[in-house]
Amino acid sequence: GAIHYYDFVLKETNFTRLCSTKSMLTVNDSFPGPEIHVQKGDTVFVNVHNQGKYGVTIHWHGVKQPRNPWSDGPENVTQCPIPAGTNFTQEINFSSEEGTLWWHAHSDWSRATVHGAIIIYPKNGTTYPYTEPYEEETIVLASWYKADVMEVITDALTTGADPNVSDAFTINGEPGDLYDCSNETTYRLAVEYGKTYLLRVINAILNEETFFGIAEHNLTLVGTDGAYVRPATVDYIVIAPGQTMDVLVTANQAPSYYYIAGSPFADSIAPFDNTTTTAIFEYKGNYTPPSTIPFPVLPLYNDSDAAATFTNKIRALNSAEHPVNVPKNITRQIYMTVSTNTLPCPNNSCSGNSNGDRLSASLNNISFDTPSISILQAYYWNLSKDVYTTDFPEKPPTFFDFTGNVDNITLYTNPGTKVIMLDFNETVEIVFQGTNLSAAENHPMHLHGFSFYLVGKNKGNFDNATDPLKYNLIDPPEVNTIGLPKNGWAAIRFYADNPGVWFMHCHLERHASWGMDTVLIVKNGGTEATSIRPPPSYMPPCSKS
Ligand code: C2O
Ligand code: CU
Repeated sequence: GAIHYYDFVLKETNFTRLCSTKSMLTVNDSFPGPEIHVQKGDTVFVNVHNQGKYGVTIHWHGVKQPRNPWSDGPENVTQCPIPAGTNFTQEINFSSEEGTLWWHAHSDWSRATVHGAIIIYPKNGTTYPYTEPYEEETIVLASWYKADVMEVITDALTTGADPNVSDAFTINGEPGDLYDCSNETTYRLAVEYGKTYLLRVINAILNEETFFGIAEHNLTLVGTDGAYVRPATVDYIVIAPGQTMDVLVTANQAPSYYYIAGSPFADSIAPFDNTTTTAIFEYKGNYTPPSTIPFPVLPLYNDSDAAATFTNKIRALNSAEHPVNVPKNITRQIYMTVSTNTLPCPNNSCSGNSNGDRLSASLNNISFDTPSISILQAYYWNLSKDVYTTDFPEKPPTFFDFTGNVDNITLYTNPGTKVIMLDFNETVEIVFQGTNLSAAENHPMHLHGFSFYLVGKNKGNFDNATDPLKYNLIDPPEVNTIGLPKNGWAAIRFYADNPGVWFMHCHLERHASWGMDTVLIVKNGGTEATSIRPPPSYMPPCSKS
């Protein structure tokens, strides 16, 4: 494949939205940031110049990075932050992905403003497995805070309370007509009657899943997370933070204006941003603009059934060119409860909670403590002592009633930096089980270094005797992020064929910050071709503090 070079200059830039101006970290002065365009099989070198005020890292979400965790990016998992005033070149290898992915900062909440699209075209001589669109358009959904996002999360973590919710959602950087001071800059997508467009939709929102649709137009889903799916025609999509969806839309209605809208799917008692972002799907040509622009019918914020109706339609394309390869015989089953819970507040210093507890989150009741140096370096140089331990429990503790049957109880979690060790090429199944401890919620669970097959999901509690019999092992979607249903379960399968240190976490930023994370370490396979590549000559420095 070809080799491409990009420069990403991170620096503070002033932006004004909702009549309020702030300085925020951006890449190359743009929000959303620059797009990366490649063909399958290409390699990209991105020189990240940090001209901001604090250390940051960049992650290539959904790119498997075979044998090369060194460029993956999560802070203190695969690298220490790039110090302000320095640069770091990351190598991104596009081995098997095709479609849309994205990149984002992976330190604290800086991804709110530091993110952009990655577009992976088919190789020369191959084509999309669907009708060639007339034009393509990237649609990035994001969160807008009037405040500095780093202050929002720092404040939440020190008080132990829920972080403030965002002030708006945006489509390609613009909140849209329903917010103050936004209608002049509303994003407009100009279309020609009769033509079909490919929209590459990316959910870069921090804390809310999203319903998305276009008034009076169907959407045909053709790809998710950098893999093709069997075309499914729908009225709306549900897209979780971290996910990407490629949809075709044909401009086949009366030439006019139609609203494009995104509104939250947040079936939860936790505070969330309940506003709606809009853009305009605008036909070219001469006609009288409508006095009222039609609005898409989107489900209510808590309509879990409407969300499931959509996600249950997603199937892998499973064609001769794009076959599935689902592991059939599992050598390792990991059962993982996903919970929000609490931790005692040190010296009663929090204001967040009546009994002096602070909000927290866990996987199998372990709340991930991010170490102060990188786990990858500690692993590679055999320096794991005082950095991490390998005793992540592969089942929840037996006293832990993980189910949705438990009604909103408080259970303390245990902080720790515990990882899961996997042998090379194990066939792995992870069953995520949602719980109702502090509160039941949806959780977009994401794994770095892999895409995986979503073989089953449902409401309620997973039953290992009966549920696996109902798995889809024929054409399950191949993804990197799944929406774990509220109080429900989801089962994923993959081959552990990528040696390295790979972060796994909820892609709701507030849950990740509270500890809803862990790390999978896949050991080397015994040959050079099955081992982690040697580190690049320069990695951002780590210092034990
Ligand atoms: Cu979108 Cu850990 O990543
Ligand atoms: Cu979560």
